[in-house]
Amino acid sequence: MDGSSYVWLDGKIIKSEEANVPILTHSLQYGSGIFEGIRAYKTGSGGAIFRLDDHVRRFFNSARIYSIGLGISQAEFKNAIIETVKRNGLDECYIRPFAFYNDQSIGLGVSGKKVSVAVMAIPFGHYFANKEKGIRCKVSSFHRINSLILPPQAKASGNYINSILASMEAKRSGADEAILLSSNGYVAEGPGENLFIVKDNALITPSASSDILIGITRDSVIRIAADEGIDVEEREVHREELLTCDEAFFTGTAAEITPIISIDSEMLGDGEVGKITSKIGRLYSEIALGKKSKYAHWLTYL
Ligand SMILES: Cc1ncc(COP(=O)(O)O)c(C=O)c1O
Repeated sequence: MDGSSYVWLDGKIIKSEEANVPILTHSLQYGSGIFEGIRAYKTGSGGAIFRLDDHVRRFFNSARIYSIGLGISQAEFKNAIIETVKRNGLDECYIRPFAFYNDQSIGLGVSGKKVSVAVMAIPFGHYFANKEKGIRCKVSSFHRINSLILPPQAKASGNYINSILASMEAKRSGADEAILLSSNGYVAEGPGENLFIVKDNALITPSASSDILIGITRDSVIRIAADEGIDVEEREVHREELLTCDEAFFTGTAAEITPIISIDSEMLGDGEVGKITSKIGRLYSEIALGKKSKYAHWLTYL
């Protein structure tokens, strides 16, 4: 480490200031890239990447959905991620793999265009400044994309224009984050987070039929809850259930477990972070920090 940060680009580690693309790059103009968001945590035995294999698999699935030929195997890609984090000397960070059409011609066509794969690793703290106290959400007037418009199960750059509009609208109205409904009117998710509500000590989360990104943190929470004997229902969630629940929280690699204390200016429960939310949040963080041997298989040590 010499104070610079490093990027893995098409098989080589280079200084981040040298990892540049021309302004006309296809994926910059048209949002045609795909990406992942992964975290590494500092455990008692050094840095460890959380659920790396699952993120690698989802990245390849996103590429498959958009017919992007990555030109690299999953094993090579996984090594690239580990190498990037190590080269940056980080044991706790956010990792951003990105594949894009590295081509400058005008036009939407992608056939024959060069695909580049990059991996970045940057220091990262809380996604929401008031994560600990809980955040205020607003149900968005923008609906979540659906498979007739854009594939919600792919983590593709262009999909996030929908998320950005919803988030902007929420922040303009004084909330911290948006909640998007699916096109059939059920609750879908946040702009970059899955959503859980708690009712009568059970967890309820929108199912894939509500056009969510199938989150890896969501899956972790479902498994942790099952191990703790907490019931989990994956089903369509009516908007009004958001107001009559006891607790609610977002899940996501960036958001981790973020309590929600109000929706559309209505306080949930007593407006404090709920008991089940706190319990899940504590367990999730202990697992990510390598303190729970039962979940050691979720960690890839650097
Ligand atoms: C739209 C959307 N939903 C949900 C999530 C949560 O997914 P994960 O837990 O895999 O980070 C993300 C973040 O990746 C997202 O962008």
